[in-house]
Amino acid sequence: MKLQMMLSFLNQDINIIEKTLEETIHADSPILHQASLQLIKAGGKRIRPIFVLLSGKFGQYDINRIKNVAVALELIHMASLVHDDVIDDAELRRGRPTINTKWDNKVAMYTGDYIFARALELMTKIENPEAHRILSNTMVELTIGEIEQIKDKYRFDQNIKDYFRRIKRKTALLIAASCQLGAIAADVEKNVQQKLSRFGYYVGMSYQIIDDILDFTGNEKELGKPAGGDLLQGNITLPVLFAMEDEEIHSRICKVHEHTTRGEIDQIIALIKQSDSIKKSVAVSDHYLNKALAIIDELPQNKAKRALKDIANFIGKRKF
Ligand code: IPE
Ligand code: IPE
Ligand code: MG
Ligand code: MG
Ligand code: MG
Repeated sequence: MKLQMMLSFLNQDINIIEKTLEETIHADSPILHQASLQLIKAGGKRIRPIFVLLSGKFGQYDINRIKNVAVALELIHMASLVHDDVIDDAELRRGRPTINTKWDNKVAMYTGDYIFARALELMTKIENPEAHRILSNTMVELTIGEIEQIKDKYRFDQNIKDYFRRIKRKTALLIAASCQLGAIAADVEKNVQQKLSRFGYYVGMSYQIIDDILDFTGNEKELGKPAGGDLLQGNITLPVLFAMEDEEIHSRICKVHEHTTRGEIDQIIALIKQSDSIKKSVAVSDHYLNKALAIIDELPQNKAKRALKDIANFIGKRKF
């Protein structure tokens, strides 16, 4: 089932989110405007705003209030992608040239900052200090996650715990925050709020694990971004950590460095794909998804519950 079909009851509200996204990034500077707009227009799965809206369905849902949170979360995600593409030296995002490629790293740096700032501006409509505390904390953690990843590049002696800590920070906490802030904006009862946040955390862990698997198994056309870049860049992800349990692959991987050629990397990627490391990584992703699904069962009955379940399952099977 397609994502839009699972969410047909939200279609109208998702259109409002799209419109608000475009309005929000309006800038007097043509470069900032064009750069931000091209990223919005290129699409994206909009997973974070969808989680904001669905979480709001457990309380007093008012699209005019909650849209500010939904758009802010998508913008924070987008800004982090703009910066991520600089540090990952990525050329393609959502099927289009990245801002660092189409313009340069300096423009990308300020476009990212600009999008962040617009997100914060929208959030001022939510007069709740707790919401702002959660959001700033999430942004601090996301930044630490990305910088830790730079520090851990080509560090082949790292363990699975280092990896989990990093993906929690760079990805899972933002999805947890999307759920929690959506719930706060709709005055959802505290204990349901916390459940939604935990649900978001587990889904987020699974989401990044799948992203890291797709970097090995996916292709550029489906992903809208280059595949196979993680290892080339020295980013040690779950499939690599599992593959290194094999002595021979371990010694090949440990020799990877900044100047390793694409050809050599492709051979190692083939070895990793032939090993059982992909299967093992999928099992870990499924483990997190099952934890997420178990929490859904504890939530009050409503339409959003079914949709949360469908999305969690969609994430486990996604190819893009
Ligand atoms: C990409 O996020 C980065 C990760 C945290 C895995 P998405 O896969 O949600 O990217 P878009 O928004 O759909 O482009
Ligand atoms: C997620 O990591 C990026 C952020 C959380 C900012 P990746 O570097 O794997 O994301 P993609 O693959 O470029 O989308
Ligand atoms: Mg990255
Ligand atoms: Mg990246
Ligand atoms: Mg990735």
